[in-house]
Amino acid sequence: MIKELKLTNWKSFEQATLFIDPLTILIGTNASGKSNTLDALLFLQRTASGVGIFQAINGDVNLAPIRGGMEWVCRKPAKEFSLVLTLGGDAENQDYRYELTVQVNGAKAEVAREELTLLKYGPRSKTPRESRLFYTQPQEAAAPGIPAYFTTGTKGPGKRIDVNRSHLVLAQSDALNLRKEVQEGVKQVLTQLQQIFVFDPIPSHMRDYTPFSEKLQADGSNIAGVLAALDKTRKKEVEDILTEYLKALPERDIQRIWTEPVGKFQTDAMLYCEEGWTGTLSHTVDARGMSDGTLRYLAIVTAMLTRQPGSLLVIEEVDNGLHPSRAHVLVEMLRNLGKDRGIDVIVTTHNPALLDAAGARMVPFITVVHRDNTSGASLLMQLEDIKQLPKLMASGSLGQLSAGGRIEAALKQEDNQ
Ligand SMILES: Nc1ncnc2c1ncn2[C@@H]1O[C@H](COP(=O)(O)OP(=O)(O)O)[C@@H](O)[C@H]1O
Ligand SMILES: [Mg+2]
Repeated sequence: MIKELKLTNWKSFEQATLFIDPLTILIGTNASGKSNTLDALLFLQRTASGVGIFQAINGDVNLAPIRGGMEWVCRKPAKEFSLVLTLGGDAENQDYRYELTVQVNGAKAEVAREELTLLKYGPRSKTPRESRLFYTQPQEAAAPGIPAYFTTGTKGPGKRIDVNRSHLVLAQSDALNLRKEVQEGVKQVLTQLQQIFVFDPIPSHMRDYTPFSEKLQADGSNIAGVLAALDKTRKKEVEDILTEYLKALPERDIQRIWTEPVGKFQTDAMLYCEEGWTGTLSHTVDARGMSDGTLRYLAIVTAMLTRQPGSLLVIEEVDNGLHPSRAHVLVEMLRNLGKDRGIDVIVTTHNPALLDAAGARMVPFITVVHRDNTSGASLLMQLEDIKQLPKLMASGSLGQLSAGGRIEAALKQEDNQ
């Protein structure tokens, strides 16, 4: 799992570190930099999946650009950005550090520097023993690509292979015949980055029938197809859990959620739900008749139930369309299913009720995004690190503090000291 992401000159950030927990909640006023943080995760997912660096930023026929494209990817006026990640390894006592610097110049975005290091923690020492698996050297004028050096196991600079600068060295190393230790590290890091899933479920896209599919679309449009394609036992299991969570939502009682094949060729599926008031007969509605809030919530639960373990699920304004009184259901769902299925979740929210639902025990998982008083750069601050927090918490709930802008006010004060 990804543990930490350090952003340097990325969009509105000059330098900041995001700590990633099983559930990470980002809060902050408009334009503080919440979405900019998440954009970095989208960039990493794309480039680790083999998309070129330029295409990942600027988009192409099949891919929407990252907001602002090439023009806004570096913090103005910088011409390069860096992302440094700490990721878990196979064993308890191992981490990987992956460092990437990208140079942006007009219509070009290329690797300026990249490095992968294995960190091994001894039983007693807090500082790990580091071994570099690969690193790059600045490009030589005559060289066609960027020189990358891979560990050979012997001392010395390592084995030089010139690789393309337009793609991550990491994503190219996969295909090279390298030492086992390097291959293992590359695979670990690539897999974790590829498993980032930036999910933006759009109810209006979910109302149609969709083909049976293995992979959930980023807009949730094919939830019916994904559920219907599960094997029979798992399908029943998943639909039961969906029903259980959905029951907690609306006024109208939901008896059952399920999918069914439709059409002459039975290759598409539709989502159904049986609902009714107590005391009246129940009736069936299909996705076309379901409420926006129900569909969006259903999509999020489906993602939690069908994404691979090890995934990092990223959801903007997670409680969008949900009644504030149901915020606690959402938080409990994310925590429980995340834990059961080994999925980490990062969300943003503007909803005070969600913060109240999260309660005091969630304080360690909340990160406040705000702007530096003087430079205007975005900063990330863990709520528990705010010195005045105990005093603040004594005067109101988290939701009240956030709605009243008192968390940001406290941060401004601490910045000025
Ligand atoms: N390259 C950049 N340099 C400086 N500021 C930037 C850059 N890219 C975006 N921003 C700033 O980021 C802000 C938007 O941040 P965003 O993450 O979308 O906010 P929110 O917290 O509402 O999601 C805007 O004020 C914009 O000016
Ligand atoms: Mg935003």
